[in-house]
Parts: sequence; C-alpha cells; structure tokens
Amino acid sequence: MLSNHASNEGKRTSLHGTWSSRMAFILAVTGSAVGLGNIWKFPYIVGENGGGAFVLVYLICVVAIGMPVMMSEILIGRRGRRNPIATMSLLGKEEGSSRHWQWVGAMGVLAGILILSYYSVIGGWTLAYVIKSIGGVFTGLDAAAVAADHSAFKSNWLMVAACHTIFMGMTTFVVARGVERGLEQAVRFLVPALVLLMLVLLAFAINSGYFAEGVRFMFTPSWDKLSWGGVLIALGQALFTLSIGMGAIMAYGAYLPEETSITGASAVVVIADTVIAILAGLIIFPLVFANGLDPASGPGLVFETLPLAFGHMAGGSFFSTVFFILLAFAAWTSAIGLMEPAVAWLVEQFHRTRSQAALSVGGAIWVLGLGSALSFNVLEDVQFMAGTIYDNVNYLSSNILLPVGALLITVFAGWVMCRNSTAEELGGAGVTYKAWRILARFITPIGILIVLINTLRPAIGRLLGS
Ligand code: PFF
Repeated sequence: MLSNHASNEGKRTSLHGTWSSRMAFILAVTGSAVGLGNIWKFPYIVGENGGGAFVLVYLICVVAIGMPVMMSEILIGRRGRRNPIATMSLLGKEEGSSRHWQWVGAMGVLAGILILSYYSVIGGWTLAYVIKSIGGVFTGLDAAAVAADHSAFKSNWLMVAACHTIFMGMTTFVVARGVERGLEQAVRFLVPALVLLMLVLLAFAINSGYFAEGVRFMFTPSWDKLSWGGVLIALGQALFTLSIGMGAIMAYGAYLPEETSITGASAVVVIADTVIAILAGLIIFPLVFANGLDPASGPGLVFETLPLAFGHMAGGSFFSTVFFILLAFAAWTSAIGLMEPAVAWLVEQFHRTRSQAALSVGGAIWVLGLGSALSFNVLEDVQFMAGTIYDNVNYLSSNILLPVGALLITVFAGWVMCRNSTAEELGGAGVTYKAWRILARFITPIGILIVLINTLRPAIGRLLGS
C-alpha cells in the first residue's frame, strides 16, 4: 500500500514512504472509520438517548466538528511525517510554540489503547456470531429466544474472553507484519460488499411494516429526551466513528503525498461513514419496533435485532454468516488503526522491531481488555462512576479523551500553526480554506468546550464539594 515515492524536494519525507494513490489513502481512512462504531455503537446510543434529537446533534457534530478536526489531523500528520507524538513535538517547536504539544500525541496513544481494549471484546462477539450463523442457530427463533441466546453468550466468561483473545491475536498479527497490500484489497472489497448487504437488510426492514416508525424514531427530534450528557455522547461518537481526536488519522496523514487534496479526501470519508451509520439505524429500528424490543437495550442491540431478522429470511443463515464476516472485517481494519499510533511510536522511539512493538502493545491491550470482557459476566456487579469496567473505559476514552484530543488538535492547527503552513497543506487561500480556518479557530473549539464544560460541571462540582 505504501510506496517509496520521494515527496517534493526540500520537504520532509516519511520513513515509511507514501500511499500509492489518493484512492489508497481514502480506502485506508475509510477502513479505519467504518467499523463497529457505525453498525454496533451508533444504533445503540441513538436508542439510549431517545432518537431524533440525538441524531440531529450527532450530524451537526460530524459537519461542524468532525470535518474540521479530520482536516486538521491530516494536515498536521502530513507536515510532520512522523508518529503522532514525534510530529506534535516537532511541529510544536517548528511553529514557534513548545515541544510539550507532544502530550497531545501521547494522550492519543493512550486513547487508542483504551478504545481497543473494549473494541476487541465486541470484535470477538462478531467472530462468535459468524460461527453461530454458520451453525444456523438463529433460524426461526423469536425475539425472546434471540435475546436469551445473546444473554447466555455474554454470561459465558470463558467464551467472551476467548473471542477477545482471538480478535486481539488477529489484530496484533496484521500490525506486526505491517499494513500490507492485503489490507487495501480487503477494504476495497469490504466497504462495497458491506453496503450491498446492508441494502438487502434495508429492504427487509422496509417490508417489516414498521419502517415509518423507525424513521420517525430516528428523525423526529424530541428535545426533552436529550440532556447535556447526551450531547457529549453525540460529540464523542462523531469523533469515534471518524477515528479522530487520537492521532490515528494523523499517523495515516504522514504517508499522504503532497499533491492530494486533504479537503476532498476528508469529505469522501465523512460522507461514506455517515451514510453507513444512518443506514444501520434505518435497518435496526424498524426491526426493534416490529418485534417489541427495547431500543435502549445497550451494547447487545445489534446482536439481538439482526439475528432475529436473519432467522426469518429465506437463506438467512447464509446472509447472517456473510454479514458477521463483513462486520468482523470492518472491526479488524479499524482495530489496526487503533493500534498503529502506539506501535509506530515504540518502533521510532525505542528502535523496537515492528513485531516486538506489536506484541508488547497487543499483550498490554489484551490484559486491559479482560476487564471489559469480564464486566459482561463475572465482574458485572463491579460498578463505579459510569457503570461497569466496560462502561467506564468506553466513557473515559470516547467522551473525555477524544473530545479533549480533538480540541487541542484543532487549537494547534488553527492557532499555533502559522497561516502559511496550514494554507500550504490545504491548498491555498480559497473559500474552503477560509471556512476551515473559521471552524478550526472558533466554532469547533468553542463547541467542544461548551459541551465538555456543561457535562463535566456537575461532576467537578461534586468533586470540589466533597
Ligand atoms: N472509527 C472506528 C469505528 O467507528 O468503529 C473506531 C476507531 C477506529 C476509532 C480507529 C479510532 C481509530 F483510530
């Protein structure tokens, strides 16, 4: 995927070369963006946060915050051409500020590790559901039986931990070998195949008789159901689903050729990612209402609704198998992106081989992930702050680390970097550049700050008061 083109004379080059084409970059970023966040997480948090109003806020966050942050991350990555920690340190100095900006990169590495620790647990579930589908487990089951099957699966700690282990092993294996051509090919096939299969499921949802109810739930805003906490979750999800706020896209941007338009590439990825998430909602919610399920049932939502739909379709076992294989692939390509910043850093900073670095990072994440794996069964009753261990890791990474990371990254691109540097990366001083600059300097940071302050105020108050 990466070829060793030299970039423009006098410019920095990446140790690892550059992407072979604009398409290769777009595919890699799309592979990282489209994952469990779109199909598993988006529908369940929409369900937990009351539907329409949440979706609207999420869409505003994607456009007003997601898009400028993604452009900022790519431009910083391309200018620095190193791992996120080294890039932030280098540019911090070069732009006349301080090397301490490296801590933003470090926070991103930490966020990637935390996210992957629970992401891998759910990635493991998708693997188990491939096997279940092949075995035809869901054929003819009703809603209660599918829910009972899912809950029995979750309470089997050995099974959940084993699936997490296999998924982490798969991820470590690919990262250790380096991101090779195979991955680009996989993504090239994966995204269209996933969309095609989702269209089949959409037809099923449309025929369920409850499509209108699903659409109403997703697009009619009832503002009374949305709290500031919900707004923070929408913001966190916009960042999570686009893989931004933690340096993964910065790492990919380091390999982007000089001549590729950052704005164009970002727009393609943002649109593709959003369409897939909305499609997932339009499939899931009609099935939820048609079967009297609870839209607010949490992480198990997709694992209960889709098997139910497949169980009542002609050729359901086949479609179900293909679907969960695609979902597992989508999760896999995202997991690789989550691990890349930590591995790239270990390789560059401590001169480890890629395999050594991948094994250490993978091993540490596997241990951390056991906490999340067990919080669905033996550690279910260990509850503090946001809930179980899984809930806390999820909350801390998506709702605190990603927004803070995104805030600092845009402040850096908008305020610390000089106008010439950013204009050069974003292709001159046209309308798009001006729009990006206004968003990155004012709208995005102020938006993130308002949401963070409003949600954290009660918690800070409690801390200070006690
Ligand atoms: N964007 C991925 C998803 O929606 O599933 C999650 C993710 C992948 C976040 C890679 C961050 C990242 F670096």
